[in-house]
Amino acid sequence: MIDRKAFRSLSSGLYLITAREGERRCGCVVNTLVQVASEPPTLAVSLNKENVTTAAILASGRFAATVLAQDAPMELIGTFGFHTSADTDKFAACTTAADGAEVPYVTEHALARFSVFVTETIDVGSHYLFVGTVEESEVLGAGEALTYAYYHAVKGGKTPPKAATYNGGDEAPAPGVTETPAGAPAAGKRIAWRCMLCGYIEEGYPEGLPADYACPICGAPRDMFERIEL
Ligand SMILES: Cc1cc2nc3c(=O)[nH]c(=O)nc-3n(C[C@H](O)[C@H](O)[C@H](O)COP(=O)(O)O)c2cc1C
Repeated sequence: MIDRKAFRSLSSGLYLITAREGERRCGCVVNTLVQVASEPPTLAVSLNKENVTTAAILASGRFAATVLAQDAPMELIGTFGFHTSADTDKFAACTTAADGAEVPYVTEHALARFSVFVTETIDVGSHYLFVGTVEESEVLGAGEALTYAYYHAVKGGKTPPKAATYNGGDEAPAPGVTETPAGAPAAGKRIAWRCMLCGYIEEGYPEGLPADYACPICGAPRDMFERIEL
């Protein structure tokens, strides 16, 4: 028996994994970064074989990791977690730096960063597990780390199918968000629209989203929005 709900009780943080292939800067959101040895300090991360970032790590043998802070905006997560580096320079709108091997990393809304030299690449089906030695690490800020649970429960975020922990997109709705049928909102409530792909909430259109509306975070069309009341 495989009960997908069992996987939801696993806890993790949210991170940006970044890499460089030639002149191209790549990066994606993950929740699968973990320290797997203390000596030498070793990290592992699971990346989908179709991610552009995966190709860059396979080619370069290196990646950087940024630990996201709890105040990381959905726009940053949307850019790195719902778009492809193939046609977007995800770094254009955020503050960045580069490590000693010229691998770029994000410095805003970041608690810490690591530079990793890949020592093993393990094929685990849909994903590769990259295991590597930490060559650089640095504390970048203070505060709470953004956890996967907080991302779902408080920020209302979703998990795309390419994530290692995607379990059918059946996460529970965020607490405090009531899904309702069409019609007038309940007393004291206002109508809003929630992107079912990235979790972005649009409050500007009580009469309904325009036909050509696209999510400002992940680009999903109007059909991907559900009506909610706040
Ligand atoms: C909350 C969250 C967790 C994610 N976790 C992973 C993960 O662990 N591994 C992975 O390969 N992709 C994960 N993703 C999906 C990638 O970030 C996404 O497919 C990204 O667009 C890939 O970008 P790229 O093609 O530029 O590399 C996650 C996305 C989100 C929003």
